[in-house]
Amino acid sequence: MTAQLINGTELARSLRADVAQQVTELKERHGLVPGLAVVLVGDDPASQVYVRNKVRACAEAGLHSELRQLPADTTQDTLLNEIDELNRNPAIHGILVQLPLPAGLSSHAVIEAIAPEKDVDGFHVSNAGLLFSGQPRVIPCTPYGVMKMLESLNTPLRGAEAVVVGASNIVGKPMAMLLLQAGATVTLCNSKTRDLAAQCRRADVLVVAVGREGIVNGDMIKPGAVVIDVGINRGADGKLHGDVHFASAREVAGAITPVPGGVGPMTIAMLLVNTLEAAQRSLGTQPETL
Ligand code: GUN
Repeated sequence: MTAQLINGTELARSLRADVAQQVTELKERHGLVPGLAVVLVGDDPASQVYVRNKVRACAEAGLHSELRQLPADTTQDTLLNEIDELNRNPAIHGILVQLPLPAGLSSHAVIEAIAPEKDVDGFHVSNAGLLFSGQPRVIPCTPYGVMKMLESLNTPLRGAEAVVVGASNIVGKPMAMLLLQAGATVTLCNSKTRDLAAQCRRADVLVVAVGREGIVNGDMIKPGAVVIDVGINRGADGKLHGDVHFASAREVAGAITPVPGGVGPMTIAMLLVNTLEAAQRSLGTQPETL
């Protein structure tokens, strides 16, 4: 069996078109243009590519965006002042500080300084807490995008075995919460998990978000499983590879995301959705879910 490919590029394009339409309506009805500020500290080349893509996607969907680039030796106080200014800026509805931050800066303190209603990453403890308690406000972009992909496939989640590999605050932990809320039985694996292969083999839905090329291969996948690969790794061949060994996995899985062209484009689309919804909430209206 060769797995169905889950086309994240296509799904993201359709979501971005929906966002663009809602942005037009918001402008016409309320004179409001949703605005996103992206803050990049330092000159990490991968982060520069990611933030440029985020800013470009905003422009294409009709959102206002600002890129604030700060040098790698920026102090914590300077960064907190920048965030304070953005918190008070009425043209800005979403603030994203690209992670990781250079050594010496506390990502926790920086995230907590963002006004929770402008935290379009959904990383602030109040947004994480709301998700944990089953009342989500802002859902982190990557796991939100994965849920949209599963929805587009009509993947049954109630009672399904879902295994998440990688327990980061950005992907793994919120992913596990969303799958749990959808009725799945969730196993969240971390770097100490004893028999990763055995855990993965139980999964009807397997989400891998570790950042290590090929940590999961076809032998670790249950036949017919839906496999979502969140990893983006630059391989020795200079190309991008996921955390899942694609060639072996696609022979076993029922459906699988490619890298590139899978989860990556969805993360950006969901950032636009979160920014649009933050702008809608600033008017006191409940966002319509896209
Ligand atoms: N670095 C890698 N992924 C992300 C993300 O989703 N948001 C932010 N702010 N930084 C990241």
